[in-house]
Amino acid sequence: MAYICYMQVNIAKKAAAEQAATYIRPGMTVGLGTGSTAYYAIMRIGEMVREGLQIKAVATSRESEDLAGAQGITIIPFSEVEKIDLDIDGADEADMQLRLIKGGGGALLREKIVAAASEQMIVIAEEAKLVQQLGKFPLPVEIIPFAYELTLRRLQQLHAAPALRKKGDQYFVTDNGNLIADCHYEHIADPETLHAQLNDIPGVVENGLFIGMAHLLIIGKEDGTFREIRR
Ligand code: A5P
Repeated sequence: MAYICYMQVNIAKKAAAEQAATYIRPGMTVGLGTGSTAYYAIMRIGEMVREGLQIKAVATSRESEDLAGAQGITIIPFSEVEKIDLDIDGADEADMQLRLIKGGGGALLREKIVAAASEQMIVIAEEAKLVQQLGKFPLPVEIIPFAYELTLRRLQQLHAAPALRKKGDQYFVTDNGNLIADCHYEHIADPETLHAQLNDIPGVVENGLFIGMAHLLIIGKEDGTFREIRR
């Protein structure tokens, strides 16, 4: 997924993203998420940097790194990261317990590594992403290409109805050189158990369930207002 440009501004996403940026303090190391909502956060952080804010950042995808660099945000290599103070990222679904499905853009592995290394994670999304129960959005599972057919069979045994993600005629390949199996559950009754079962399959690198990671969910609304939900 590339940030070409979002011609028509999505007010809800922008409102959530700009509110999240107000939590950034000088000197912080900030994790930059991936996706169309994170795009607005990166753009706002770029403005703040150009107004004099001094921060460092790490990115969860090549696209976000490129966008941040173009906005004048200093991206540091992970070898120089002592801690990440605040991670700001989008989600495909979130419930009231701030459990998430992520990976619609294919960046879930890097997003999870950054989220896990962050002291605080703020999730930004528009209202439609807030759900009673996770699962309507197909759960992305990153799998290694080696013997992927066997891994898909193991996913089938977990009733995942997996479909390898495609980009045009080709299989979608993540920034890490892996494949994405989109798993169609419709309802995920027990995300914690499913998370463990999925990651137990050899060949699965990571899955898109983010549990116990988000501290604050900012839901943007179409009228430009927002709502904050804390864990
Ligand atoms: C990227 O892999 C994803 O986890 C995104 O954070 C998620 O898909 C949300 O994307 P949007 O903000 O574009 O909906």
